[in-house]
Parts: sequence; C-alpha cells; structure tokens
Amino acid sequence: MKPKIHLIVGARPNFIKADPVYRSLNQLNKFELKLVNTGQHYDQNMSNIFIQELRMKQPDINLEVGSDLHGAQTGKILSLYEKVLIKDKPNMVIVFGDVNSTIACSLAAAKLGIPIAHVESGLRSFDWKMPEEINRVLTDRLSTFLFTTSPEAKDNLINEGISDKKIHFVGNTMIDSLIEFQDKFEKSKIRENLDIHGDYALITLHRPSNVDDGDNLKKLINSIQNTSKIIPCIFPIHPRTKKKLQSAKLYNELLNNKRIKLIDPMGYIDFMCLQMNARIVLTDSGGIQEETTFFGVSCITVRENTERPITISNGTNKLIGAEYEKIPQEIEATIKNKRDTHSIPTLWDGNSAGRISKILELYFFD
Ligand code: UD1
Ligand code: UDP
Repeated sequence: MKPKIHLIVGARPNFIKADPVYRSLNQLNKFELKLVNTGQHYDQNMSNIFIQELRMKQPDINLEVGSDLHGAQTGKILSLYEKVLIKDKPNMVIVFGDVNSTIACSLAAAKLGIPIAHVESGLRSFDWKMPEEINRVLTDRLSTFLFTTSPEAKDNLINEGISDKKIHFVGNTMIDSLIEFQDKFEKSKIRENLDIHGDYALITLHRPSNVDDGDNLKKLINSIQNTSKIIPCIFPIHPRTKKKLQSAKLYNELLNNKRIKLIDPMGYIDFMCLQMNARIVLTDSGGIQEETTFFGVSCITVRENTERPITISNGTNKLIGAEYEKIPQEIEATIKNKRDTHSIPTLWDGNSAGRISKILELYFFD
C-alpha cells in the first residue's frame, strides 16, 4: 500500500504554494495523495479560480468551514479535520504558510500522532499581534519536517530550540508556481481588457492592522486617493477590505475616482501579469513581497515589520510602517528613481517542490 499524504489548502495563497508540491509528489507515483480544502476562502475568485488556473485536481475532501472569528474558525477546522484523520488515517499531513487552516490542521494531526511537514517554515515577524505569527510558531513547534524558504528561517527555528535535523532549506514553492506559469502571465490580455496603457501602481491591502480600524482605513484611503494623482492605480480588492470600506462608507468614494480601477480579487494569471508589469506595488501581502522580489518590481509594504526580510536585503521591498500619509511621496520618489537592483534569493529557482518530494521519498522509502 502506498503511503497516504494529505495536503491542506484553504486560503488563497495556500493553493499557489501547494500546487507544485502536489504535482511533484504525484510524479513519483509512490504516494496516495489527497487534497483537503478547508474552505477558509470560498468565493470563486478567492478559491476555485486558483484550482482551475493552476490546473489542480478538485479537492478530495472539502470541510466547507467558511468565515468566522479566529477561535471559531480554527476550532471548526480542528474538529472537522480530526474526524477526517480518524477515518482516513494518512501517514503524513503537509501544511502551507501561516493561515488559520495551517495551525488548525497541524493541531488535529499532532494530537493523533501523525507527522506534519510545514512548507514555508521559520518565517518570523516577531509581532505577536499578527494572527499569522501565532500560527507560524505553533505549527513549527508541532512539525516533523520544517521546509524553509530562506537562510534566516533556520536561525529563527534554532533560536526556538528546534533541532536542525528537522530543518530543510528547500526554497520557495510560491516561486515554483511563478516560474511554471510565467509564460501564461506574459500572454494575459488583462491590461488591454482593463484599458491600461503606460505605468500604474498595483495595490492590495487586507491586513487587519490596516483595514479593520476605521481611522487607519480612512487615512490609508486618503493616501491612495493622493497617490492616484501621481500614478494611475489598480486595486483588486480583498473581500475583508471591501466589507470594511463599505461599512466605513469609503467604498463609493474610491469607486468614483477615475484614476483608480477598483476591481474584484483577480485570478492568479491576470493578477501576476499586472504585478510583473507594474511600475510599483503597494501592499501588505506576504506573498506579494516575495513575488515582486523575484520580478524586481518596486514594492512598498504598508507594515511595521516583515517576516520576509530577504525581500528587503535581496529584493525591492521597502517597509513604510503605518505612516500612511507618507505613501504618495514615497511612491513618487521611487518611480522617479531608476528601477531598483535586486538579486533572486538562493533556491528560488523553480525546483523547491522537487527538493521537498525527494526528502519525503527518502523518509518513506529509504
Ligand atoms: C487570511 C489569512 C491571512 C492571509 C489571507 C490571504 C488567517 C488568520 N489570515 O486572511 O494570513 O494573508 O487569508 O488572503 O488565516 N471573505 C469573503 N470571502 C472569502 C473569504 C473571506 O467574503 O472567500 C471575507 C469574510 O468577511 C471574512 C473576511 O473576508 O470574515 C476575512 O477572511 P479570513 O479568511 O478570516 O481572513 P483573511 O483576511 O482573508
Ligand atoms: N493574488 C492573486 N489575486 C489577487 C491578489 C493576490 O492571485 O487579486 C495572489 C498573489 O499573487 C500571491 C497570493 O495571491 O500569489 C498572495 O495572497 P494574499 O496576498 O491574499 O496572502 P498573503 O500572501 O498575504 O498571505
């Protein structure tokens, strides 16, 4: 009987990180693989569109948890997934990133003694106000295989007392997807479809620290309005942010600005086309800091800290903190300069999932 492995997806970035690992393990033809979708994200453009565009197979198991408070959402996944584990008895669970689905499924597996592999291990913002930091640290503590994307992740894990035998520097599976689909990004017609000619800023914002507080949100939107006087903006809007803007009565104000294209969350191919061709990106996303680093596109991150410091040391990323009023001048200064130099971090080479599957093959068959 082939060893059975579950791969956990749920939130938008999980699909992008998991797909290369699934494909690489599948190619070995030595494992029974099951894709488990928690349903943390559920709108077509936050979930299914990624399954379709990445040509993933439909999930084998759908938990359909939907949105809720953190404790309730994490608890629901924990309890539903525990039942699945007891029935299906996988030999390993692979989790990705730092979302609630990651920690919830890890906890369920750990309590049943099932080994966990964590992809994108060891990143630390050292900011315990971020739900993701809690998820990362706890998931790493529970994992048997810790697959890291950058060298400093290992130092973080060693400092927390994790044995270096568990840590494997494999590179970045999100960049595996980028490299795999790059020719599709180049062929996307999204700029013509959106009637975009020339330079633009691409904006994504969804961190609770930026969008959940009414005052912060107001200041941020004011800055985006001012930024649009400098450069046209494209703003694919995360559902969390859309809801907050609507309840703060700021949504229509943005919609009325002809220099800002306020659009639904986008599929991967079109979004990546917009990202690689942007003059500048303004974001609070984790993954987009990495993708802009790979593309060499200037990135301004609206956060006080980043768990991805390599995007600053090697890449084109700059933290601006919560000083929202500085955003327009920072953007103006950046786009007046020559494009930033950058170097692609080590092992962000498209083969990270291959390295992961080799390590797991050795574990199960050596
Ligand atoms: C989650 C992750 C965050 C990640 C982000 C990626 C946690 C703690 N947070 O944040 O780390 O960067 O996903 O996008 O896991 N909603 C919809 N439709 C959907 C999904 C969400 O309308 O398909 C709305 C709901 O009102 C929901 C809110 O967005 O309450 C937030 O969703 P949630 O999954 O709790 O957190 P994200 O902000 O998406
Ligand atoms: N992304 C996308 N469409 C969008 C916004 C983001 O395909 O409208 C992709 C983005 O390129 C990256 C991933 O989603 O690959 C990042 O997701 P997000 O910013 O939601 O999460 P984070 O990385 O902050 O956890």
